[in-house]
Amino acid sequence: MARFPLEPDRERLEEMTRAVVRLVLDHLSSLDAQPAHDLDGVEGLRASFREAVPERGRPLDEILGRLEAAIAKSYNAAGPGYLAYIPGGGVYTSALADFVAAATNRYVGVSAAAPALAQIEETAVGWLCAMMGLPAGSLGILTSGGSLSNFSALVTAREACLDEDFQDGVIYLSEETHHCVAKAARLAGFPGSSLRTLPTDERFRLIPEALEAAIRDDRRRGRRPFLVVANVGTTNTGAVDPLPEILAIARAHGLRVHADAAYGGFFRLTPGGEDLMPGVEECDSITLDPHKGLFLPYGLGALLVRDGGALARAHRGTASYVQDVAGEGSLGSADLSPELSRDFRGLRLWLPLMLHGVAAFREQLGEKLALARWAHERLRGDPRFEILDEPQLSVVAFRLRAPEAEAERLGPELLRRVNARRRVFLSSTRVRGRYALRICVLSFRTHADRVRDAVLALEEEAGALLG
Ligand SMILES: Cc1ncc(COP(=O)(O)O)c(C=O)c1O
Repeated sequence: MARFPLEPDRERLEEMTRAVVRLVLDHLSSLDAQPAHDLDGVEGLRASFREAVPERGRPLDEILGRLEAAIAKSYNAAGPGYLAYIPGGGVYTSALADFVAAATNRYVGVSAAAPALAQIEETAVGWLCAMMGLPAGSLGILTSGGSLSNFSALVTAREACLDEDFQDGVIYLSEETHHCVAKAARLAGFPGSSLRTLPTDERFRLIPEALEAAIRDDRRRGRRPFLVVANVGTTNTGAVDPLPEILAIARAHGLRVHADAAYGGFFRLTPGGEDLMPGVEECDSITLDPHKGLFLPYGLGALLVRDGGALARAHRGTASYVQDVAGEGSLGSADLSPELSRDFRGLRLWLPLMLHGVAAFREQLGEKLALARWAHERLRGDPRFEILDEPQLSVVAFRLRAPEAEAERLGPELLRRVNARRRVFLSSTRVRGRYALRICVLSFRTHADRVRDAVLALEEEAGALLG
């Protein structure tokens, strides 16, 4: 037994690292052949993990074997057949960056502690601002995901526009806005009456006239409208709200505009991508999710704020025990976000962009748009399907064309049958209260063969159900 088991010697470290790499590479090299999901027998496996902390350590091979079995029994979110919810895949080189960051364990929350590493993170956030067309002076933070980015966005807007007595503030959103915005508002201290949910048009986009009418109405009633949350890619159908009109109304009435571009924002990188979301560069803040549109592993979101000072004012905080590092160099992430100690998450963004170049991401995103359009064309030509909207980005939402009650009953059965083939994995939703299925193409590992398999499975199973 080593004297200091937490400090294995180099040889042992190499041995352990090789074992971990073997597991990962075995997994990745077989992704194509793995089922798109597999939960058979998972309850027993899950129960085997309900255990007390061991007093003495267990062998690594045994632990990795258990882990490998647990990884297999899940939705295969890394695989090419994952077309459910919002995929991403998890670029491997980002995992390598995480490994370096965790193993070297530097603190980057204040720039004085690791100036060059903090700069890497600042530079990577600057790249995101440039990708979205934000001007110099914009600042941003890296979060664990879109939900927390939207939370910090709401707090930033609240601090910029309202005083401490903010219960009469009003936030405008659409019926298609992601539910994390309502959650964020609640966490930020707003009562339910602060949320004004607006209707959408036939393409699921917020209706500007409804926004203007609601703002006027709220003002008349003595409320304080201060923020519009606009969608750049809704989760249900990928709808993009009309930003130029929303911005014009917001500016006329003195409101800020936050764009939730968690799913859709990175499509701006594709050729012609600026036209997919005109006006996003004028928004006051933007949520992006690199773990969606840049295909990085789960755990990386971003909030970009046009007036970086507003972000800093909303997240300020100081104490004497940080006096040695306070105010040194540029603002660190600890000055701009709710977090103090955290991982060096900028590296998981910086390294893949540095290594592959942004062109590799552009190309992948362009392919995803084309694949969704292909699936749409194919399903549109099939009388058994009702398409909810032509894809604005990379989501195709549809339902079976049948009398209402039939469609409600057969929709879940169609999903079950397609997923039971385990070649692809789709998810469902409700749009305007009606059951709908979705194909969301956003993994860098998903290519034409897999989308074709999804469509073929839908056609065959719809044929079996409807004749
Ligand atoms: C449009 C949109 N906003 C916000 C979120 C929440 O992001 P996260 O799951 O990273 O917290 C999602 C997640 O799918 C989303 O699609």
